[in-house]
Amino acid sequence: MSKIGVPIEGFSDFSRQVAAEGAVLLKNDDHTLPLKPAEKVAVFGRIQYDYYRSGTGSGGSVNVLYTTNLIDSLLEDKTVTIDEEVLEAYQTFIKKQPFDDGGGAWAAEPWFQEEMPLMDTFVQQASERNDKAIIVIGRTAGEDQDNRAEKGSYYLTDKEDRMIRLVTTYFDRVVVVLNTSNIIDLSFVESYDPSSVIYTWHGGMEGGRAAVDVLVGHVTPSGKLPDTIAYQLTDYPSSQHFGSDVQNHYVEDIYVGYRYFETFCPDKVRYPFGFGLSYTTFEVNPKPFQYDATHQQFRFSVTVTNTGDVSGKETIQLYVESPQGTLGQPAKRLVGFMKTRLLAPDETETLEIKLSLHQLTSYDDSGVTGFLSSDVLEAGDYLFHIGTSVRDTDIVYDENKQPYHLRQTIQVRQAEEALKPVTPFKRMKPGKRRADGTYDCLLEPVPLRQQDINKRITDRLPEALSFKDTTYTLQDVLNKKITLDDFIRQLTDEDLAILVRGEGMVSPLVTPGTASAFGGVSDRLLSLGIPVGCTADGPSGIRMDSGEKATQVPIGTLLASTFNPDLIEALYRYEGKELIQNEIDLLLGPGINIHRHPLNGRNFEYFSEDPYLTGIMAIANVQGIRKEGAHAVAKHFACNSQEQSRNQVDAVVSERALREVYVKGFEMAVKEADLMGIMTAYNPVNGHFSASNYDLNTTILREDWGFRGIVMTDWWAHMNDPVNQGVPSRAHTDHMIRSQNDLYMVVNNYGAETNRAGDNTLKGLQEGTVTRGELQRSAKNICRVLLELPVMTRKQVFRDDSGLIPSQSGVVNHPLLTTQPLAVSNETITTFNVNETKAYRMYVTYTSTGDALSQSAMTIKLNDQVVATAQANGMNEIAIKQKLPKVTLEQGTYTLSFDVQKAGIYVKEMIFIPVD
Ligand code: BGC
Repeated sequence: MSKIGVPIEGFSDFSRQVAAEGAVLLKNDDHTLPLKPAEKVAVFGRIQYDYYRSGTGSGGSVNVLYTTNLIDSLLEDKTVTIDEEVLEAYQTFIKKQPFDDGGGAWAAEPWFQEEMPLMDTFVQQASERNDKAIIVIGRTAGEDQDNRAEKGSYYLTDKEDRMIRLVTTYFDRVVVVLNTSNIIDLSFVESYDPSSVIYTWHGGMEGGRAAVDVLVGHVTPSGKLPDTIAYQLTDYPSSQHFGSDVQNHYVEDIYVGYRYFETFCPDKVRYPFGFGLSYTTFEVNPKPFQYDATHQQFRFSVTVTNTGDVSGKETIQLYVESPQGTLGQPAKRLVGFMKTRLLAPDETETLEIKLSLHQLTSYDDSGVTGFLSSDVLEAGDYLFHIGTSVRDTDIVYDENKQPYHLRQTIQVRQAEEALKPVTPFKRMKPGKRRADGTYDCLLEPVPLRQQDINKRITDRLPEALSFKDTTYTLQDVLNKKITLDDFIRQLTDEDLAILVRGEGMVSPLVTPGTASAFGGVSDRLLSLGIPVGCTADGPSGIRMDSGEKATQVPIGTLLASTFNPDLIEALYRYEGKELIQNEIDLLLGPGINIHRHPLNGRNFEYFSEDPYLTGIMAIANVQGIRKEGAHAVAKHFACNSQEQSRNQVDAVVSERALREVYVKGFEMAVKEADLMGIMTAYNPVNGHFSASNYDLNTTILREDWGFRGIVMTDWWAHMNDPVNQGVPSRAHTDHMIRSQNDLYMVVNNYGAETNRAGDNTLKGLQEGTVTRGELQRSAKNICRVLLELPVMTRKQVFRDDSGLIPSQSGVVNHPLLTTQPLAVSNETITTFNVNETKAYRMYVTYTSTGDALSQSAMTIKLNDQVVATAQANGMNEIAIKQKLPKVTLEQGTYTLSFDVQKAGIYVKEMIFIPVD
């Protein structure tokens, strides 16, 4: 029996553990937390009920069996006594003013929920009845909806501000819980001085219970900040160059997050990167480091002792301070970390962090070191800082009390210039060292592209495999009867053009409600044994717009805050099991872009401002899924640093910053976890759209890193000319293939074979903008991955035929089903009679609102049984007709109705055409 929609046992419980481990305690005066048994507590803020489990958009759309909020979890837990008057006031308020989801449409949910106004006397009296207060502040944001520098988004609303002011005025002990997807303004910490502040982020479906586990001390907090919290939003170095509709210059270069603050202006930091408190204390004793010259490896040994009186975990962080040299370096850069096990009071653990010398390299994109386009180590002293946040560190020397000293600059690896900007701009660089150890901030011109991209592409055109008319199957390759080349040879140009089209969303060829079907999307490809692979969002659990249920895990930022890759790998093993059970081959996650600026709406899907932490988390995620047989697709390659104009805004960024920061996490996942899937971003990088960017998808990804998997576009992405840029279009699959982005996601269901979307692949073959060899190369990439996916051995279930739908009997006075379209609408239930048992092909015509990348979905029901799911992206209200699966209807009465899963889709007509 199919187990689609049945969550894996134990998964949600485990995700509760993870959610608790990712909570970051920022302030805890007078041991206000944990709440003690029998303490009386008043809980303020409506988010105690409307507790967020994820950000919005594709990365948050998991249908869950249940969710948990903070107040019910506190009541269920029973450690403390909850003030009933305050509780009832919120219950009454929420009844009057329920949660506003903006109507449920794409990107319509507001960032905040209107707070209950508070009166002085109400709070004052509550303070007389209770020992402590909790205030819950919530925020969301997401895909297509950046946060804004406004009240209600990055800043508190007036009502929230007043709530914190009043509660901190009357209560001595106040805990502020931040149930937010992004970091928000924390100036209330100075203004109102609450005793405790804790980020619980969005913890997935078990987030409420997990937060309570921490608040009452069942779990000692051990999360650390994956981002720097500055005093002002404008302090972030990218602030001046964020949010354009056209082009953002990455002026801060490699100085993202703490790399900027620690180097130039540490005093702008409210809470440093890597910071997080515990209910216990630790003594940290690093030993002198050892260097093994033969293997070029450092060993750092650190003993950590729990010196407090409750159990807890501590994370040891290793930063390098490289010599400034000619390139310029951040004052500190994370190069390793390790978390202890749960240490009982007085217990000690010795941690050993290994670090290879090569991990300390920098990329020279100007030739200033004498080694252009190389990974280099510049001569000088390399200082290692070990501690419990980027700020709280000690310098560690070797046994002779020396730092690591490199006498001569060395070239560790010669790469080749790739992906340089063509637009001149200036980037930050440290200048003179000041007396306090920080640096003046200079600007230097960014090295621009020198190589001839056209020559590079034409010199490296793959030779076409000659055509051979055979009928091998992909299983013959699996069984090693023939080579993959032999298999690909027999594909015609038409076959190849179809193979590079994915269908979706909600394809009837794969698990209902998922993002795409790819591979055997035509009868002929299927007959050659190419199976139909299934992809689904991602990253916080499986999204099935058919309404099927799955487990929702915490957001990426919370996962990174655990600083615990073993835990994340274990979590994603559960995810892998759930993918296999739901017949899904590829999860569209993890999201591994860099938190360049706090306002990016999708930061919640991504891990951190730091590329190393991002890479380690990505590896854990990818490996966890793979250990259960499914695979991950890391996204969005590259520089999806904002949602504003995400399908056109050009990221203008130096090659060094790209390699050291923005694509580093991808590189780590490719090299260390053999990542098999990558999704390109919507945006261009240095003028070339990611989905048709040759240097990104070929020079760096394949040739430099050795990636052997599949590259897919983001859904309905644009491409432009890999050489001349030109006008972007969704039809430019010729350019896509040329860059070695293998697969276009997505064309309409049943549309791959007929090229209904009208792409340029075959035209490009005729005109020479793409060659058969290039198409074959992408076909090989796709088939190579399919060979390793579970679908290769899974019995395929196609849902193109929903089979017999039983009729209701009895009623006869309804219109007879004919071949005329039925006029329908979202709300009406249409009744009709069928006078002869027959198979029909269904077609639905609908319009949708929203922009071109918005997503909405509905299920279509006959006699209350779901027979199809229809999905739409914004079409400017132009009606489209979508082919749906077949159904067999028997004599009798039927009702036709629609269940909107995601608002924004409006049905107009349904038609049932008899099939032979
Ligand atoms: C998002 C992707 C997502 C895809 C499929 C796009 O809008 O950017 O991250 O995987 O939709 O839902």
